[in-house]
Amino acid sequence: MQRGMARVFVTRQLPGPALDRLRSIHEVEVWPERHPPSAEEFAAGAADAAGLLTLLTEKVDAALLERCPHLRAIANYAVGYDNIDLVATAARGIPVGNTPDVLTDATADLTFALLLAAARKLPEAIDAVRTGDWATWEPGQYLGAAVFGATLGIVGFGRIGRAVARRASGFDMTVVHTGAGGDSFEKLLERSDFVSLHCPLTRETYHLIDGAALARMKPTAILINTARGPIVDQSALRGALIGGEIAGAALDVTDPEPLAADDPLFDAPNLVVTPHIGSATHDAREQMAELAVDNLLAALDGRPMPHQVAVPG
Ligand code: DGY
Repeated sequence: MQRGMARVFVTRQLPGPALDRLRSIHEVEVWPERHPPSAEEFAAGAADAAGLLTLLTEKVDAALLERCPHLRAIANYAVGYDNIDLVATAARGIPVGNTPDVLTDATADLTFALLLAAARKLPEAIDAVRTGDWATWEPGQYLGAAVFGATLGIVGFGRIGRAVARRASGFDMTVVHTGAGGDSFEKLLERSDFVSLHCPLTRETYHLIDGAALARMKPTAILINTARGPIVDQSALRGALIGGEIAGAALDVTDPEPLAADDPLFDAPNLVVTPHIGSATHDAREQMAELAVDNLLAALDGRPMPHQVAVPG
């Protein structure tokens, strides 16, 4: 049975035409600012909504749900959903949707861009040219690590991890991973020239890369994180970079986001940080909007979401 018009709160303007599809059926309010709503503003906007379209910056927990008596569906504009307490949503019978697949290639491309940038010291080299520090061609200047033929360790061998592995085959890399039939986490850290993180953030993966993990890595190794910031213990990473325990790190995600300009992590050498742009291509971000709208339209109509997140057992 088709249900009628419902109120939907969308926590940011989204690229592409997807929201028009939502507006043609439902009453849609879009948070108008560039910055996320505060917790209070989010709760006020969500209070009488039947549907929420959230970003990873919005925390959905039992306290928020308590204030949303009419809520029937949540569509998260991301493949990750660690911003949502799935136990709390399940307790209220509210389905949660995500946006898998459409950002896999964009995120894998960015992973490789970061890997290459860190290996070949691109930020430092580009800065030198722009600031006039590049004096002449020198045999020993801006030397980096070879990528071709190196060993890449992929932690989390799901959709994105496997897409990164496909790119690595073009560089003749040996790929080791923690998926089925792969290496143990410890062995992977010891073998890899590059360690790339592609696991979700869960209680088990919080600070997975801690001091002990960094100590297992080769002193020439580079860490890449395009997954979630809290998977890495940043203070341990800072120590490992300063102490030369590893050779470099490239992070698209940090804890918190954004990092303050005076965050101590920025004192560390051989560090590349980008502003969580893994999925930032026109195509991926527009497709994510389409999937999020598909999820909401289905659930508000009483049908299963096409991309519904499973409730943890
Ligand atoms: C995700 O989808 O989880 C990314 O972090 C943002 O696109």
